Amino acid sequence: MCKHISGRDRLMKQGFDEKQAMRLKWLSKDMNEHERYMQDFDLIFKELERWGPGSESDTLKALQKLPNKPTTLLEIGCGQGIATELFARHTDAMITAVDNEEFALKHLMEKMQQNGLEEKITTVCADMAKMPFDTKSFDLIWSEGSAYIMGVKNALKAWKPLLSEDGVLVVSDLVWSTDKPSESA
Ligand SMILES: C[S@@+](CC[C@H](N)C(=O)[O-])C[C@H]1O[C@@H](n2cnc3c(N)ncnc32)[C@H](O)[C@@H]1O
Repeated sequence: MCKHISGRDRLMKQGFDEKQAMRLKWLSKDMNEHERYMQDFDLIFKELERWGPGSESDTLKALQKLPNKPTTLLEIGCGQGIATELFARHTDAMITAVDNEEFALKHLMEKMQQNGLEEKITTVCADMAKMPFDTKSFDLIWSEGSAYIMGVKNALKAWKPLLSEDGVLVVSDLVWSTDKPSESA
């Protein structure tokens, strides 16, 4: 079970190593301000269903492009389950939804129960860099806006062994669509 943590441990949980976490805390200068920032971050995000860029129509469009019908789907960094619900409604796959925020997984499961979809979903509270699954366990791995946490290259390398033969990995990431982004952007 995940426990609620804060400060340096929280930064490390988000993928920073100890040195980077210490530096980030140091850069905050005023530790009280830093804690306040983290509290505000929690306050805003807890109220939002979607925690990353994307839309339902983008998810469905990508689902339609799959070459095979998935039977075992691993979603990494599922958050509050905005895409998970679509998988449950639009595929016959058994879904394993991973995140390291216990409250998000709890919210996800409550939503699925309200909609009678819970039997298709197992939630796992784990670090995306150390997931407790056997190799070749999934024929579809899906991660919306979360691979950046490990670094996209690292994520692809770490997650590929979990894919079965001919398995498919779908990852979305926030990137610039121009070489010259505006100052405000
Ligand atoms: C940008 S959000 C995207 C969430 C969701 N896919 C969405 O679009 O709403 C990144 C997600 O990764 C989770 N996360 C952060 N670090 C993680 C880690 N080390 N292991 C597993 N999940 C992590 C966060 O809790 C959050 O739910």
